[in-house]
Amino acid sequence: WAALLTSTAVGLALLPGAPAAAAPAVPAAKPAPVAGGQSVDDSLFPEIGGTGYDVRHYGIALTYATGGTIKATTTIQARAARPLSELTLDLEGLSVDRVTVDGRRARFVRRDTKLVVTPARAASGRFTVEVRYHGRPTTHIDPDGAKDGWVPSATGATALSEPVGAQTWFPNNNTPRDKATFDVAITAPKKLAAASNGELRSRRTRDGQTTWRWRQRQPMATYLSLLAIGRFDVYRSTVALAGGRTIPAWTFVEPGLGSAKAQRDLLPKVLRFSEKQYGRYPFSATGMVIQDLGVGYALETQTRPFFDGVPDDATLVHELAHQWYGDSVTPRDWGDIWLNEGFATYAEANYAAEHGGPTTWQAFQQAYRANGPGSDLWSPAPAALTNPADLFGSPVYERGGLTLEALRHRIGDEKMRTLLRAWARQQAHGVVATSDFIALAERTTGENLGAFFATWLYQEGRPAGYEDAGVTRVA
Ligand code: ARG
Ligand code: ZN
Repeated sequence: WAALLTSTAVGLALLPGAPAAAAPAVPAAKPAPVAGGQSVDDSLFPEIGGTGYDVRHYGIALTYATGGTIKATTTIQARAARPLSELTLDLEGLSVDRVTVDGRRARFVRRDTKLVVTPARAASGRFTVEVRYHGRPTTHIDPDGAKDGWVPSATGATALSEPVGAQTWFPNNNTPRDKATFDVAITAPKKLAAASNGELRSRRTRDGQTTWRWRQRQPMATYLSLLAIGRFDVYRSTVALAGGRTIPAWTFVEPGLGSAKAQRDLLPKVLRFSEKQYGRYPFSATGMVIQDLGVGYALETQTRPFFDGVPDDATLVHELAHQWYGDSVTPRDWGDIWLNEGFATYAEANYAAEHGGPTTWQAFQQAYRANGPGSDLWSPAPAALTNPADLFGSPVYERGGLTLEALRHRIGDEKMRTLLRAWARQQAHGVVATSDFIALAERTTGENLGAFFATWLYQEGRPAGYEDAGVTRVA
């Protein structure tokens, strides 16, 4: 109705007989409210996300009851470029009790994994959506058959959110292109511990319930959000980073897995190694969650990676490298996942090379020879995925990593080092596309790398020209 008023005012000012000199300046017409879109048109997950708004902050207050049910309120602070008559969030399962927008009750409907909200008054500028909900969260099954989202554990539950599982435990704009800061308050029976991302702000017990308040001060994609409630041994320490910076480390280890001392000791070393390679650690807290959950993968949950059992060194290196590549520098679209996994896999090779393993070039040659032109390793091409089930396949990880080694081989050590650091620094806390990386590589080297990347990233099958160990490919 704001728009109606505006046009009425304009109409009045133009009434015949109104003294021309006294006519007020016509106010700039307020844009009419629009309905936000119900998808961000991600190339692999066309159903995710909503448009018309940008989430700035999520405040999640979640109470967990023994038995596996939750009662929660998620408060979303967002901004709309144009007034919104309707906005769409992602939410899978659970029962919504009440939605308000800027404090006023809003109508809502559930459609599959969508929560469509109609505010009483158009949401404009900065606005707040509060969603109260409850229920027993469901586990999400990914296109590759893996579990994510809310996963019940032996003593509680853990929520892992890549790619889309975040929607099983809080309503959100579930696309990596809409990053926001987070406050997560988890209340659970006091014998349980509760982990999330970032720094612990407080931990208070009342009436047998403990509330753990976590804050993620740097922007985070929803897929990197973490929640782990259960019996854990909790270790707190500090890590000294480059430049005299000290950050807190919180590590949660499932009892029965030992104290994970070797991994807790390795964590600061790997962080310092990675800072030397990639530049400043982008966050202000660290740690790990180590638990036998049975999902079969580790995950780079922001600041506090998750490990499905005590990790080996390479897995720890991989998930920590993601803090730079993936968590801080985040792909806009799931089709650019190689920017995460190729980089983290390459980081493993770099770390191994610096710690007594083969050189990255030796590892490249070994992989190249062991996987003939028709091998599954080479198809689909890493940046040309069409099936979301291929998101975490070896072309994305291994071929993605080999692409970076082929690039280093082509442009040389020094330019490669400059490129990796510039990518992390210039795009810190941002969202990116493969084209941004290619553009930076060309700027950094002053070379046209179009043919190189077309072959390595977009053409299926093994790139030719590396058969002979001594031969340098030139295009
Ligand atoms: N990003 C994780 C890693 O490489 C793997 C996630 C696997 N998820 C899945 N649904 N298969 O560390
Ligand atoms: Zn990874």
